[in-house]
Amino acid sequence: MVEKIPQLPSFTKMIMESSDDFITVINAQGIIIAVNPAVGRLLRISIDSLIGQPLIQALYRGKKFDYQGNYLSPLIETLETGKEFINKERRYNSPLLPSDFICYTSTGLLYDNDGKIAGAYSYDKDLTRRRSLERTNENLVDKINMQQLQTVLAFSEAIGARDDYTRGHSERVAEYAQMITTAMGLQELNEIVYVAALVHDVGKIGIPEQILNKPSKLTEEEYQRIKAHPVIGANILKQIDTFAYLGYIVRAHHERFDGKGYPDGLAGEEIPLISRIIAVADAFEAMTSDRSYRQRFTIDYAVEELKRCAGSQFDPIIVDHFVKLVSGKPS
Ligand SMILES: [Fe+2]
Repeated sequence: MVEKIPQLPSFTKMIMESSDDFITVINAQGIIIAVNPAVGRLLRISIDSLIGQPLIQALYRGKKFDYQGNYLSPLIETLETGKEFINKERRYNSPLLPSDFICYTSTGLLYDNDGKIAGAYSYDKDLTRRRSLERTNENLVDKINMQQLQTVLAFSEAIGARDDYTRGHSERVAEYAQMITTAMGLQELNEIVYVAALVHDVGKIGIPEQILNKPSKLTEEEYQRIKAHPVIGANILKQIDTFAYLGYIVRAHHERFDGKGYPDGLAGEEIPLISRIIAVADAFEAMTSDRSYRQRFTIDYAVEELKRCAGSQFDPIIVDHFVKLVSGKPS
C-alpha cells in the first residue's frame, strides 16, 4: 500500500508523458510513485501495475545487489547512500530487459518541505537504439564505392581551391585522426575517419573568403558566420544518401566533451566517436600550423594544451592515446 501518491504539476506530467527517455520516481521507502509511459513501453507492461510496487520487487525480482555486492538499481543506491549519478553509462541489469540494453542514467534525491529525503528519481536515456543506428550507418559507409569516394575528394579539392590552408589542414587532420583510430585498435574505422576528416570543414565553402582568411580579429558577426560551417557541411553531405552519416560526424566536430560546444551542445558519448577523434586531431593540427593571424605553436605547447583541455573540450581517452603517439609518454 502506498500512503500517498503525490499529484505531479501538469507541466512535469506533460514532460514525463511526452518523453522517450525513462523517468522513475520512488518514495523514501523505495516504492514506485511515478513512472512515465516510456517505461511501460520498454518493459511492455502497464505503468499502473508498477505504481505502488517496491522498485526492487517490480524490476529486480527482489534482489538489491549483484554477486559482487554492487547495487543493481542506481535509483535505490541514490536513495540509500545519497550518491547521485549524472549520465552514468551502464548496462541495465533488470531481468525484465534484454541484456544489451545500455543507457545513460542520472539520479537525484527528492526532499520534502522540511528538507527531509522524500524519495529519489532516475532519468535514463536509451543508448542502445543510438548505438545500433551508428553501427547501421557505419556499415553503410563501408559500402562507399570508388565513385562516391571521388565525389568526397572533389569536395575536398573544392575547399582547397578557395583556401590553401584548409586543404593541407584537412589532409593532415585526416592523417592524425587515422593514427588515433589505429592506436585505439579501431582499424575498422580507419577509412571512414580519414574520409570524414578530409571533408570536416566542407561547410567553409559557405563562408566568404575575406572572413576565412582575415588576418585580424574577427567581429562577433564574422565569428557567428564561421560557427555555421559544421551545419552547412552536414547539409551539403546529407544531399547524398550514403554520406548522411558523414554529415552527422561533420555536424558534431566542434562539439565539446563538456557539452559547451556547438551547434547542438552534445556532451560525452552523445558526440559521435569519430567527431571526438577529429576534434583532437583538428585542434592539434591547427595549433602546430602557421595561420593568417599567428605563427605555429611548438608540439610541446600543443600537447600541454590538449592535456589541459582533456575532459572539458576533448574526450580524455582520445587525448591520452594521441599524446602517447606524439610525445611517446602518457598524458
Ligand atoms: Fe571546423
